[in-house]
Amino acid sequence: MNSLFQTERLYFRHMKHDDMDCLLSLFQDEKVMAYYPSKKNRRDTLEWIEWTLKNYRSYGIGLWILELKEEREFIGQCGLVPKKIDGKVEIEIGYLLAQKYWNKGLATEAASACLRYGLHDLSFNRIVSLIDQSNLPSIRVAEKIGMTFEKNVSKWEKTLRMYSISKNHFLFYNEKKERQ
Ligand SMILES: CC(C)(COP(=O)(O)OP(=O)(O)OC[C@H]1O[C@@H](n2cnc3c(N)ncnc32)[C@H](O)[C@@H]1OP(=O)(O)O)[C@@H](O)C(=O)NCCC(=O)NCCS
Repeated sequence: MNSLFQTERLYFRHMKHDDMDCLLSLFQDEKVMAYYPSKKNRRDTLEWIEWTLKNYRSYGIGLWILELKEEREFIGQCGLVPKKIDGKVEIEIGYLLAQKYWNKGLATEAASACLRYGLHDLSFNRIVSLIDQSNLPSIRVAEKIGMTFEKNVSKWEKTLRMYSISKNHFLFYNEKKERQ
């Protein structure tokens, strides 16, 4: 089954070419892609898979596939990707789920596990997230996992909000939550 890590309700596993149809159905959904430059066709999705596999080989990280544990069902992707932002290489967290699974706390559960993996297990100093200012669910997820607004960044010809969290803040934030 090859799961990389897991949460209460989710398995994280590597993306593979067989995920093409599931990913394509996500990338063809207007609501899911509302804050991306455009929807993706089959060719774009193949490039997405190839880019992800290259990230695994080059950096040991990338976007991972999320599966619901009980049904072993594909629900989306979440992961860590190196990205150059304002001339500096940052580790960005990304999350994207099929509509059917929204508002059940699943992105928060996945993103929180990803932060732990990146900041605790892999010892990155910090992780960021670039979010469209109108994407309130995504902003809410960033806030729920302890990220805070850092600055605005220009990308895709618009202004995105950059959220960030440092390793120290993450460890402090989670210790505090565990004590409550
Ligand atoms: C962003 C996304 C991953 C969130 O997934 P999710 O599993 O629904 O997230 P969660 O259930 O963990 O949390 C969603 C939060 O947003 C809140 N929310 C949902 N719709 C909202 C809206 N229109 N306005 C304000 N808050 C909203 C929910 O109430 C919840 O917060 P709460 O727990 O405080 O009530 C999902 O909407 C998605 O895949 N969107 C398309 C892809 C995308 O935009 N990815 C992010 C790119 S930066």
